[in-house]
Amino acid sequence: MANLQKIEVAASRPYPVFLGVRLEDLGEYLQTRQTLGSQILVITQPVIAELHGERLAEGLKDFKVDIINVPEGEGEKSLDRLSSLTSEAVRLGVDRSTLVVALGGGVIGDLAGFFASVFMRGIRFVQVPTTLLAQVDSSIGGKVAVNHPAGKNLLGAFYPPLAVWTDFSVLASLPWNEVQNGLAETVKHALIADADLFAFLEQHQEQIKEREQGIWREMVTRSVAVKVKIVSQDEREAGIRALLNLGHSFGHALETEMEFQGISHGQGVALGIVAAAGLAQARGFITEAEVERIVQLLKSFGLKTEVYDKSAANLLHLMEADKKNQGGRKVLILPKGIGQAVVVKDCNDEEILSAWEKVIR
Ligand code: GLY
Repeated sequence: MANLQKIEVAASRPYPVFLGVRLEDLGEYLQTRQTLGSQILVITQPVIAELHGERLAEGLKDFKVDIINVPEGEGEKSLDRLSSLTSEAVRLGVDRSTLVVALGGGVIGDLAGFFASVFMRGIRFVQVPTTLLAQVDSSIGGKVAVNHPAGKNLLGAFYPPLAVWTDFSVLASLPWNEVQNGLAETVKHALIADADLFAFLEQHQEQIKEREQGIWREMVTRSVAVKVKIVSQDEREAGIRALLNLGHSFGHALETEMEFQGISHGQGVALGIVAAAGLAQARGFITEAEVERIVQLLKSFGLKTEVYDKSAANLLHLMEADKKNQGGRKVLILPKGIGQAVVVKDCNDEEILSAWEKVIR
């Protein structure tokens, strides 16, 4: 297949990201992994099983396949769900040789991956991402987790998958608000590490909105390449990997303020990128013209670049809970021009307040 690509992720256990493959061909690939047993446990959601389950199952005929459907929503990334998955897995006879297939978006990847990381002290799993966000971002990097009432992703692990199996065709049915989540992370990848990808997104805004297949393929592949390059250098987030959090400190504060209602993760990240760019401009890291390019690109995808009726002081306060903060100091990722970013540990509250004020109307 001409469009098939394989990108290797360097990690404690290296793994390939296959791009442009077909769901039907996963089984054939797994047959080549000789140490696997004959059972496959697919963890997915009802809508995804309905859309893609049959195609996946077609290639898995030589395995004993069991499916566990998890209801939709971030709320399912919970210890309760982990416990019920465990009971169900035991009932189905899952053992150390069973392979878990995480078929879905970010919630399924995180939940199924965390389950695989702890069940019998760790069984193998494959990520089969079905959203743009999962394909360009959350299926790669090995971080898996569930939430806890005391914090999002508070219980987790670094647990690399056996492989990531990315079939572009599953994106055709994705609702636009889901596409936007992936586009926000793709703009972020371009901004922190790939100026050419940023220019590509600008040049092909219309084709991207029209979901032109060739353009989407190139966009996903280049966005994946950024993520792979960064996580391969810093599996455990001791340094450069923190750059992937650009826009997330501001964005997460906004999502928290809105109690995760009426704002998607991508919208929060987009707004966060604009706020971070404003702060970077005040520090002389980026020009006004470059900030304008960022705003225009996000806007063209219908992403948020301003918010209404918010208190900057309250949003600043909410940033205090950010996991990246060190010793009471806020740690922020700021763009340096387009195609580069830096970790900044000495931002004061006045600077952050004025960054918020620039995006509040
Ligand atoms: N699961 C997302 C990451 O590892 O970055």
